Amino acid sequence: MTAPLINLNNDIQMPAFGLGTYLSTEFDGYKYTKFCLENGYRHIDTAYFYENEDVVGKAINDVISTGLLKREDIFVTTKLWNIHHEPELVEKACRKSLENLKLDYIDLYLMHTPIGYKYSENEELLPKDADGNFLFSDVDYLDTWKAMEKLVGPGRPVKSIGLSNFNSEQITRILENCDIKPVVNQVECNTSINQKKLIEFCKARDIVVMAYSPMTRPHYFEKDKSLPRPAILHEKVKEIGQKYNKSPGQVVLRYLYQIGTVPIPKSSNENRIVENISIFDFELSVEEMQFMDGFNTGQRTVPFNACKTHKYYMFNIEF
Ligand SMILES: NC(=O)c1ccc[n+]([C@@H]2O[C@H](COP(=O)([O-])OP(=O)(O)OC[C@H]3O[C@@H](n4cnc5c(N)ncnc54)[C@H](OP(=O)(O)O)[C@@H]3O)[C@@H](O)[C@H]2O)c1
Repeated sequence: MTAPLINLNNDIQMPAFGLGTYLSTEFDGYKYTKFCLENGYRHIDTAYFYENEDVVGKAINDVISTGLLKREDIFVTTKLWNIHHEPELVEKACRKSLENLKLDYIDLYLMHTPIGYKYSENEELLPKDADGNFLFSDVDYLDTWKAMEKLVGPGRPVKSIGLSNFNSEQITRILENCDIKPVVNQVECNTSINQKKLIEFCKARDIVVMAYSPMTRPHYFEKDKSLPRPAILHEKVKEIGQKYNKSPGQVVLRYLYQIGTVPIPKSSNENRIVENISIFDFELSVEEMQFMDGFNTGQRTVPFNACKTHKYYMFNIEF
């Protein structure tokens, strides 16, 4: 199955479903990106921080070289990491991502978070002091955004730019000062934190919400039961799925699609990869959507706790 396309605010189209690749190893990143593209996926989400742009890009290029797909059939999202927020580092970082991916353009380039980390020559991705505290930078994300705007345009390396992990006030500040509007805000969105208010806020401003950690990271919950409990483990979700001949995972992903987001689940399992994208041939009823809404507690799986002291920490307001 393939996902429908949705229009971004710059008239570019984006597939309404993608593959996440965080923690995809060298082997998984290559094997499963390739498998996804061979099985209907047209949208891949990676990041400089994931250190797998090279294998993801190799999979994309290998699929293109078989003739199965053309470059323009595939939507590639990658992200500017926190150490590269200094405006003079932005284009260099973007070119490095392109070099890793071995592509000549990026479809969507996101600012990974509003928070800058200290840059060092050896490119330490998570720079820390002797006590283990993050070494932040205080670069204004607006200045970073201005540098990202320069990446877009004819002959430039990026088609669309967007945000990730931004709250409503930070988005407003970007919108009030930008020349190019962000097309997307990629945030944690799953049954435990369904982001209804942020979705409404973004929709009113023609910004698409991309749902990361859509399965509520079941592999994290398995190890730490204080984390939000994934709805796929709930008996009633299983029952709802049985009604449509779908799995609990498909019910959750369909829910996220119906509330207006673009889910990007990560999977390194061929059955689940095929299953996850097969959500465009059924519809949850109003009552079932209301039942799924009931899981929303607002608890995050990815709270960025180590960044709480930064002036741009994003999760200390409601949305
Ligand atoms: N912008 C950001 O700051 C940010 C932060 C986090 C994530 N992301 C992006 O969002 C993507 C997805 O989020 P995530 O990887 O954190 O978490 P996730 O997609 O919620 O969870 C991934 C886990 O769910 C399992 N899974 C996948 N489909 C399943 C199904 N149908 N039934 C049961 N289990 C299933 C996978 O196991 P198997 O592999 O065994 O199937 C994997 O262990 C990331 O990979 C990354 O691309 C972005």
